Amino acid sequence: MSPVLEVEGLYKRFPIAGSRSVVQAINGVSFSIGPGETLGLVGESGSGKTTVGRCIVGLIEASAGTLRFKGANISMPRARRPRDLFGKIQLVFQEPAESLDPLMRIGRSIEEPLLTRGGSAVERRERVLRAVEQVGLRREMLDLYPAELSAGQQQRVGIARAIITRPELIVLDEPTSALDPTARAEIIELLMKIQRELGTSYLFISHDLSTVRFISHRIAVMYLGMVVEQGDAAEVFAQARHPYSVGLLSSVLLPHPHLSIEANISLKGEIPSPINLPSGCYLASRCPLAEERCRHAMPPAEDVGGGHLVHCFRHRDVARYDRITDTFEQFQQEAERILGIHDGLPAA
Ligand SMILES: Nc1ncnc2c1ncn2[C@@H]1O[C@H](COP(=O)(O)OP(=O)(O)OP(=O)(O)O)[C@@H](O)[C@H]1O
Ligand SMILES: [Mg+2]
Repeated sequence: MSPVLEVEGLYKRFPIAGSRSVVQAINGVSFSIGPGETLGLVGESGSGKTTVGRCIVGLIEASAGTLRFKGANISMPRARRPRDLFGKIQLVFQEPAESLDPLMRIGRSIEEPLLTRGGSAVERRERVLRAVEQVGLRREMLDLYPAELSAGQQQRVGIARAIITRPELIVLDEPTSALDPTARAEIIELLMKIQRELGTSYLFISHDLSTVRFISHRIAVMYLGMVVEQGDAAEVFAQARHPYSVGLLSSVLLPHPHLSIEANISLKGEIPSPINLPSGCYLASRCPLAEERCRHAMPPAEDVGGGHLVHCFRHRDVARYDRITDTFEQFQQEAERILGIHDGLPAA
């Protein structure tokens, strides 16, 4: 099936006021998302996840690269995109309270994205009621103000606002990080239900790997503005091939003594500055496997099978997490317990 979203060679540089330097926030990112598919975008703080999301939604313009939505060029900011794509790509923020106007009643907030589109008040009301039902809120809540709702309910409002324009792609930027574990599990289940019912594609941005593992069909790992590894979620979790992904995953696995002994790749030092990127592989200064060529040339993306792409000269030598494959069930059970989710993983 042809992709809903294609991102090709995306770059984003932010000039620094009063200086000739630039922040090289995104450095050649490519990926695609299929219909009804969730791509989990993970990586440490500052790796560029939000910037990628903002380019896709059109809040900012990429410095270079191409964005296509169902084949149509959407490389420009939202205001200049083809009009028939209005509302087809939506965004849900981390802080529901911040995306809602505190002085606006919930019903009005949910209706707002439709106001510029014409259509009758009766029609809009019907769509608001439908969206409210889809996100599991009660009608009586429409007359309340955001402060009268819990954080989880506020995030449901954020999701209702997003789905009311019938989007085909939703960028979810850390949608559950501000929530307690119970609300988090409920929102994840809600997002999975919406995807089953409406077939919406998601770009799910998070640094909470257990959550990402649950909701994603595929995963892209970001480091310093690059996707260093991407592929099927189960495969990347079980057999990460990039030293950075291995380091990231072992940091999650550490609480499990029987697994941590396998985490034999640990990253040293600090992330280099995106204002002054190293030559060669951006991880070389921190990577225990780095050799001479890694410091001079950026490794190209290599397909290690079935669209599992890795930017690493030494991916064959990356210690395999064979033992983790054996005990993956345990890891999964533990993640289920933490998340309180019992429905299992979404089917690809
Ligand atoms: N408007 C901006 N002006 C200058 N630099 C920016 C701007 N927005 C982001 N950056 C820089 O771009 C880089 C990527 O930031 P981004 O917010 O996309 O990271 P992130 O992966 O979303 O991090 P987090 O996990 O903390 O949300 C960072 O170095 C950040 O400081
Ligand atoms: Mg972010």
